[in-house]
Amino acid sequence: MELYQAMRHTPSCRYFEDRPVDDAVLHRVFDHARFASSGGNRQGWRVVVVTEPSTRSAIAELHFGQWQAHLGEAREGAVRHQGDDSGNKMEHGTESSTRRLDRTDDFAKRLDEVPVLLVVYAMLDTLAITDRELDRPSIVGGGSVYTFVQNLLLACTAEGLGSALTTLLAAEQPQVDELLGAPDGAALAALIAVGHPVAERQYTKLRRNPVEDFVFRDDFGRCW
Ligand SMILES: Cc1cc2nc3c(=O)[nH]c(=O)nc-3n(C[C@H](O)[C@H](O)[C@H](O)COP(=O)(O)O)c2cc1C
Repeated sequence: MELYQAMRHTPSCRYFEDRPVDDAVLHRVFDHARFASSGGNRQGWRVVVVTEPSTRSAIAELHFGQWQAHLGEAREGAVRHQGDDSGNKMEHGTESSTRRLDRTDDFAKRLDEVPVLLVVYAMLDTLAITDRELDRPSIVGGGSVYTFVQNLLLACTAEGLGSALTTLLAAEQPQVDELLGAPDGAALAALIAVGHPVAERQYTKLRRNPVEDFVFRDDFGRCW
């Protein structure tokens, strides 16, 4: 698959077929994703491929607790954004905020049924956290692992697999560490659900803001 094609057609897949993913396919995904950039080329990502049903259930339960805690806030946000959805020209095949929320809710309720859960960790001692002294939450450290995470999502698309990224599980790290036997100094960065997508439930046309909304020329005062 051509790169730009993959970049434009990697939706969050929330409905999966009930069939396993071949290890050889997953291996290809990892083998391409590993060429991601990281600070100092330290490559501090680690991945646990969870397919065992009882571990998937335990992870799904922890994720669901976080999702429920987050749901009220998310619903409020969706109602606020509803105006945007109806005001903008809705392209064929896109979804409204409330519809996305319903799908995300379905996904959280049935996460244990997803054939593969990739739990991505970052080894903290490998991260180049150049903004750690600033008086705001650090954003830079994650940059050394989310490049890899995005590569995983794109590689799944290239293999015809669906994927969905969630970070809610990070709040449950102590319990997940125990389940997976995580080493000291590892930080839970992401959970990626992977499987064969249910074709008729996919939105392949992604909706994103146009370039002019977020790119500036020379300084923030001039639009591109
Ligand atoms: C940091 C991060 C956290 C996310 N968390 C969730 C999540 O908890 N549940 C979920 O279903 N999708 C999650 N997503 C996926 C987004 O909801 C999704 O990218 C967005 O709604 C756009 O959907 P689309 O890519 O299908 O167009 C997350 C994405 C990112 C980058």
